[in-house]
Amino acid sequence: MKHAIVTGANAGIGYATTKGLLQAGFKVSMFCRNRMKAEEALKELIKETGNDAIDIFIVDFSSLKSIEKTAAEFKEKYNALDVLVNNAGATFASFEKSEDDLEMTMAVNHFGYFATTFHLLPLLQSGSRIVNVSSKAHYGGQIDLNTINEEKGYFVFKQYEISKLANVLFTKYLARQLAEKNITVNCLHPGVVKTKIGNKAGNKLFGFVWSLFSAFGINPDKGAETSIYLASSDKLADITGMYFDKKVAYKGSELSRDEELQEKFWKWSESMSGLVYAF
Ligand SMILES: NC(=O)c1ccc[n+]([C@@H]2O[C@H](COP(=O)([O-])OP(=O)(O)OC[C@H]3O[C@@H](n4cnc5c(N)ncnc54)[C@H](OP(=O)(O)O)[C@@H]3O)[C@@H](O)[C@H]2O)c1
Repeated sequence: MKHAIVTGANAGIGYATTKGLLQAGFKVSMFCRNRMKAEEALKELIKETGNDAIDIFIVDFSSLKSIEKTAAEFKEKYNALDVLVNNAGATFASFEKSEDDLEMTMAVNHFGYFATTFHLLPLLQSGSRIVNVSSKAHYGGQIDLNTINEEKGYFVFKQYEISKLANVLFTKYLARQLAEKNITVNCLHPGVVKTKIGNKAGNKLFGFVWSLFSAFGINPDKGAETSIYLASSDKLADITGMYFDKKVAYKGSELSRDEELQEKFWKWSESMSGLVYAF
């Protein structure tokens, strides 16, 4: 039985991805921040799929310490992992800093993926996959490392675009480093999906705008299709470093393909987090 981790598995696209993987016969470990919500989702998932190969790990992706601790708990229980789906994400209407002095959108959406992968990489082996949920919003992202962590000029949409560009830069750099080990790394746009992501941003007006916008979106089951495809399809065994939309591979934005920027951003991420990858 293949074993996957899905982060942010209790709600939205993560819940639907977990459901799809359970239906495909995977064992799934849910990485979630709230035990009550996670336990409710787990019960519902077992009822919906009939697959009870599922467990819960509690983690706050805005905290590097929490990620390290939870990864250590996972490594104590398991010594291998087939698929890591980095999915947990958030929006922040106002500028906030994490306990690690990182701007919160970047802390959760980028450093969450960066640190989770860092700590779990020793468990991945030839044939393992990393799937990063990015967004079409990355096409609008512009990265300026001097201002990315600063309050001046902060705007929720702009910072979200940057964080989703970060997911593509991370994917492409990591894919090259892991190619020889035969570990694939791909990212995706799930579509505009009717979830509560914008309603948790801490601003009622923003939440209202998101509700109106996403009302025309697809449902989470449809939104999870590309994540499930990347995690499980035999057709993708050798595909790495690509950005997918509706199960079709694209190269991603021009900026995301800039190898110099990928490397610069990687080094910046290592220095901001203190996590230095040894490939
Ligand atoms: N919805 C869209 O249209 C859309 C479009 C493009 C890309 N995406 C991407 O899709 C991914 C999933 O988003 P979604 O729309 O499914 O949103 P969602 O329904 O709000 O789900 C997000 C998940 O991430 C978890 N999460 C957020 N912050 C966390 C933290 N600090 N620590 C631990 N878990 C945390 C949430 O936990 P709680 O339930 O406790 O909040 C939830 O389980 C995100 O990466 C997002 O950027 C979404």
